[in-house]
Amino acid sequence: MKIAVISGDGIGPEVTKQALKVLDAVSKKYNFSYEVEEVLMGGTAIDKTGIPLPEETVNVCLNSDAVLLGAVGGVKWDTLPGHLRPEAGLLGLRKALGVFANLRPAILFPQLKSASTLKEEVLGDGLDIMVIRELIGGAYFGEKKRIETEEGTKAWDTMMYSAHEIERISHVAFKAAMKRKNKLTLVDKANVLESSRLWREIVFKIAKEYPEVDLSTMYVDNAAMQLIRNPRQFDLILTENLFGDILSDEASMLTGSLGMLPSASLGEGKRGLYEPIHGSAPDIAGQDKANPVAAILSVAMMLRYSFDMEEAANSIEVAVSKVLDEGYRTLDIHEIETKIVGTEMMGDLIAERI
Ligand code: IPM
Ligand code: MG
Repeated sequence: MKIAVISGDGIGPEVTKQALKVLDAVSKKYNFSYEVEEVLMGGTAIDKTGIPLPEETVNVCLNSDAVLLGAVGGVKWDTLPGHLRPEAGLLGLRKALGVFANLRPAILFPQLKSASTLKEEVLGDGLDIMVIRELIGGAYFGEKKRIETEEGTKAWDTMMYSAHEIERISHVAFKAAMKRKNKLTLVDKANVLESSRLWREIVFKIAKEYPEVDLSTMYVDNAAMQLIRNPRQFDLILTENLFGDILSDEASMLTGSLGMLPSASLGEGKRGLYEPIHGSAPDIAGQDKANPVAAILSVAMMLRYSFDMEEAANSIEVAVSKVLDEGYRTLDIHEIETKIVGTEMMGDLIAERI
């Protein structure tokens, strides 16, 4: 097992360190070995090489079985032109790896119910939603341009999708639905956008191959509202890149903290890119305050999706749950009567419980 590791910027390095600590504990318990190669991307890559995604990084990642990423970005690099920003490195890497399907689970740990901003009665006995976001198409990657005209400056980004791009992610979504509750909601803006109308056409065509799955559609504005009104009506959401970016942040907050949620980005093969959904949080970087759980759970997703090690993946999720049961919390999720621990300590506690 060859794993490329990009610690990245801000809190990236400290949460990634904890994730690797837990991976080490799991490898001892389940008796497997792996190789780690650290590579640069984002702000740290800009500082050392002048560009956010060095070619060597792409090559190492392409030659690995999985890529584990911390976070990239920070105020220091915010004034650079778009193609030189840390985020451009992340988008370039996703594209280079061909990871078109981004799986973002929003699971509410029952121990954290009161950390959610939603009322307990709305949350019922728990939440388990998955957003499948198309990751390498749409407005993020369509033609973008800025021009000077007589009427002033104009700029545009093009939201474009091909039938093929929609087909391949539809299969991922229907297969995922069959492993869950056979329920899939396609979120789009088909009342306005032509690209959304193509999504509907293709997704309904592919749906015929999966008659077990109950497919419905919802406009994105309504979905944003329904997610806070009655999140329990959703099981699996399929949507395009930009809508998925927005809705997955919203879905994550239902669970109480951005700091708890991992993600997996997959392409045609088994190779995946695994990253917490939170950002680089430069305001708390280097202070032992960050929640490493999202990074740690990203390792669980890596074991599950790239290495087919379901039991090892479960052991991480169980260890996280145990530590929460025992009342340990990082600052972002702490409440009265819980014990506040730092990043490092949280990593130790979880690793010890593997
Ligand atoms: C995410 C992030 C990225 C995105 C940024 C950092 C480019 O918000 O992974 O959701 O928009 O995809
Ligand atoms: Mg985002």
